[in-house]
Amino acid sequence: MKRILICGSNGLLGQRLALMFGKKTGPQRDFQYEVLNSSHHRMFVLDHHLFDYTQLDITNKSDVKSLVGSFRPDIIVNAAAMTNVDECEMQREAAWKINVTGVENLAEIARRIGAKLVHISTDYVFDGKHGPYDEQARPNPINYYGKTKLAGENAIRASGVPHVILRTIVVFGTGINVKNNFALWVVKSLRENKKIRCVDDQVGNPTYVGDLAAAVKNAAERDRCGVYHVCGANALSRFDFAVEIARAFNFDEMAIQRIKTSALQQPAPRPLKSGFILTKAEKEIDYHPMTSVQAIEALKRELLHVTLN
Ligand SMILES: NC(=O)c1ccc[n+]([C@@H]2O[C@H](COP(=O)([O-])OP(=O)(O)OC[C@H]3O[C@@H](n4cnc5c(N)ncnc54)[C@H](OP(=O)(O)O)[C@@H]3O)[C@@H](O)[C@H]2O)c1
Repeated sequence: MKRILICGSNGLLGQRLALMFGKKTGPQRDFQYEVLNSSHHRMFVLDHHLFDYTQLDITNKSDVKSLVGSFRPDIIVNAAAMTNVDECEMQREAAWKINVTGVENLAEIARRIGAKLVHISTDYVFDGKHGPYDEQARPNPINYYGKTKLAGENAIRASGVPHVILRTIVVFGTGINVKNNFALWVVKSLRENKKIRCVDDQVGNPTYVGDLAAAVKNAAERDRCGVYHVCGANALSRFDFAVEIARAFNFDEMAIQRIKTSALQQPAPRPLKSGFILTKAEKEIDYHPMTSVQAIEALKRELLHVTLN
């Protein structure tokens, strides 16, 4: 039985990983894994009777050392990060601490005990001038979030730990108390008959969180190391994605106004022409994501069981 430590379990991806790697009791128990979920907050958002959970701040090196030293995982999955791009731009010290120092801590301790590190990164390591990108493309982040995520990747590479870095794009799905993501915001706004403005000059492959969690599991299970690009099957603009969502949910698509990124005046600049080439992940980690239309249908099914706040 392999021991897996998941960091950032309260987040959108972290919750999905907890569900995917299995509960500790009941019919969904997976006897392949002993899973310890962890996150910054004292409490786990999922049912603590069904999952093992402990509080862990990845920026606290001595806590990371003692938890990893006692649990001795074979695999550490890092889904913890400061993910709000504009907050990262404005709170640079905090962003660096979580997205770089925290990752350095995990990498160093994983290397010492011989664990494999599976880490999540982003298309924001690129400048968005020449997407879609493959894994050989040269990173050139244009905002502070992207800079911290690239520095986190580099810290992992420099540490010598066996690792997989999965870069992904605009992740969406539901979870308990998850922070708003683009698709949830569109659904919630259109459901309340609000008019929304969506940019038509930011292009990328929206990624369903279930596909990303499956990529993590495949990467953890296969004897592979390196960087993989994992995202949804097709690229489209945020505006076109919002229109697809409106059609699937039978909302009024005329409520979506087409605008340019410059109109939003966000603190952090955004890469515009992004998107990934998936050939390497398809071949080496058996990654086969849904199209945006299929993923929106999956989101619709999820939302039958979840109330949006
Ligand atoms: N969401 C996207 O569109 C997107 C796109 C590209 C890449 N990614 C990457 O994908 C990964 C997962 O993203 P996500 O959307 O699931 O993020 P998320 O929902 O924002 O969750 C991140 C989690 O990290 C935890 N965390 C923050 N600081 C921590 C610390 N110091 N120690 C331990 N845990 C800490 C938080 O836990 P608490 O709630 O317990 O405080 C939070 O729940 C991240 O690496 C992100 O950079 C995301």
